[in-house]
Amino acid sequence: MQNDLKLIDYLRQRHSTPVAQIKEPGPSDAEIEAILSLASRVPDHGKLAPWRFIVYRGAVRGELSAEFLRLALEKDPELSDAAQEAERTRFLRAPVVIGVVSKAAPHVKIPEWEQVLSAGAVCLNMLMAAEAHGFVANWRTEWIAYDARALELLGIAPDEKAAGFIHIGSSDFPVPDRPRPELSQIVTYAGEGRG
Ligand SMILES: Cc1cc2nc3c(=O)[nH]c(=O)nc-3n(C[C@H](O)[C@H](O)[C@H](O)COP(=O)(O)O)c2cc1C
Repeated sequence: MQNDLKLIDYLRQRHSTPVAQIKEPGPSDAEIEAILSLASRVPDHGKLAPWRFIVYRGAVRGELSAEFLRLALEKDPELSDAAQEAERTRFLRAPVVIGVVSKAAPHVKIPEWEQVLSAGAVCLNMLMAAEAHGFVANWRTEWIAYDARALELLGIAPDEKAAGFIHIGSSDFPVPDRPRPELSQIVTYAGEGRG
């Protein structure tokens, strides 16, 4: 994102960059802190902060990816070479991967669903915070978000959920936009309709 882009112009063309197009450099430590600080500035009913972050960068990305391959081969020893390579590089595709972890839980006042929604807001906000710092990003989950052993390796507890693994880096790849829903397909006006 160009840093002088007006917010309305940014929102008109906001899109993700495919993970295969994300390269070095990634954000510095200070930039990661700034991105996390902006990302956590979201609507959050009850001010529970029902989410947390795990930053994966450097060698741990390769170590985790090797473990993903091991788990994937346990499930399917016949995994193709391409699929093995996809596992071996799963967390190496971007210089920085940030796990957004939902801690949503039953609460006396705040519905759990609303806590989950707040974690989704964090993920989108993180994409935008990364772009505001001149990086590109992509929100992924993939099988590792739903596999108990992968989650344990990732440092995510059994009573938590992975809301997303936000891949952050750089790219000059011109991303073609994807089809967006027609408003006529998704909007109804209640009551007397449009003013
Ligand atoms: C919760 C969530 C999980 C996603 N996980 C994946 C995934 O595992 N693999 C994938 O190819 N895309 C996944 N996507 C879609 C990518 O983020 C995709 O690049 C994005 O929807 C493109 O939309 P945008 O250009 O409007 O940002 C996921 C999206 C969401 C919201």
